[in-house]
Amino acid sequence: MTNYLSLKDRYADYFRIGAAVNQETILTEEELLKQHFNSLTAENEMKFEHLQPKEGIFTFEKADQMASFAKENQIEMRGHTLVWHNQTPQWVFEGNKGSLLTRQQLLNRMESHIKTVMTHFKDPFYTWDVVNEAVEDRGSQLLRSSPWSTIIGDDFIDHAFYFAKEARPDVKLYYNDYNESSPVKREKIYQLVKSLVERDVPIDGIGLQCHWSLDTPAIDDIRQAIERYASLGLSLEITEMDVSVFEFENHRTDLTQATKEMLDKQAARYDQIFSLFREYHQHIDTVTFWGVSDRYTWLNDFPVENRKNWPFIFDEKGQAKESFKKIMTFK
Ligand code: G3I
Repeated sequence: MTNYLSLKDRYADYFRIGAAVNQETILTEEELLKQHFNSLTAENEMKFEHLQPKEGIFTFEKADQMASFAKENQIEMRGHTLVWHNQTPQWVFEGNKGSLLTRQQLLNRMESHIKTVMTHFKDPFYTWDVVNEAVEDRGSQLLRSSPWSTIIGDDFIDHAFYFAKEARPDVKLYYNDYNESSPVKREKIYQLVKSLVERDVPIDGIGLQCHWSLDTPAIDDIRQAIERYASLGLSLEITEMDVSVFEFENHRTDLTQATKEMLDKQAARYDQIFSLFREYHQHIDTVTFWGVSDRYTWLNDFPVENRKNWPFIFDEKGQAKESFKKIMTFK
């Protein structure tokens, strides 16, 4: 049997292995990135507020550095993200001198942002999150209200995909969301994307963010989500995976390291999840972790202040955890 040393090589016949990076982790995690990953996502550096903080002023330097690193190391990239209610500067939704912005003006700003950004970054980008988190979590309302939907209307999503397709017909265009495996939200995401597909809006795939915990969501809910989305005939990507050692509402802040029980449970959970991903590998193009090692995660202090987290397969020293060993071991 081949003795695999690298996660991306172990999964070469299944899907790409990705990581989200930021200005710090691209340096601190350099060796792990080169050895184990063949896809990168900018954690924040390609969001609207970073790329176009003021109208017409584009700041590409940080993201360009990431793209250069990726290219030098034969790593591909996902673009994240073009149209989102979050991390978008206020000017985007404001008219001149306090006047209300019209639908057409906001569409123009959307078009200009999407086209400038997508044509600036050439290779190594193979996919883009065009619209992020547009579905409402609660109640029966399908779409969340946001300045995009209020000023343009619900068809802001269609327009974003059309602009993206015009800019880059060569990359895959994704809708990306969280709570993707919860039955209620899953159905809403499914309905939204189904309606895009039926109206021939140019969408290629659905991004399942997969911010999960040791016990939730249930593996059956994950399986049903994958099957439901795949039934639309689109590609899927796991875009932001982490396995928190705490359930969301757990307010425990006393731990300075994960307990053995947590790490054992996490390894079993990663094992089960990756075995499911392998089962559906014909539908899944990439599995991206929302970070690299437990040295840094956005989950530190979120949603509970002073609560450290250990959600990845590499520990705080960059060493392989039991979770890594489990997902590397299969026939
Ligand atoms: O850069 C500033 C710094 O100058 C300032 O001193 C500091 C004080 O709070 O904030 C820093 O900005 C923070 C930024 O991350 C960089 O660390 C923001 O406050 C913080 O809100 C921001 O959080 C990011 C979050 O998106 C914002 O929505 C996380 O890093 C990032 O991991 C997270 O990523 C999202 C995906 O894009 C979409 N899906 C969910 C996922 C997790 O929330």
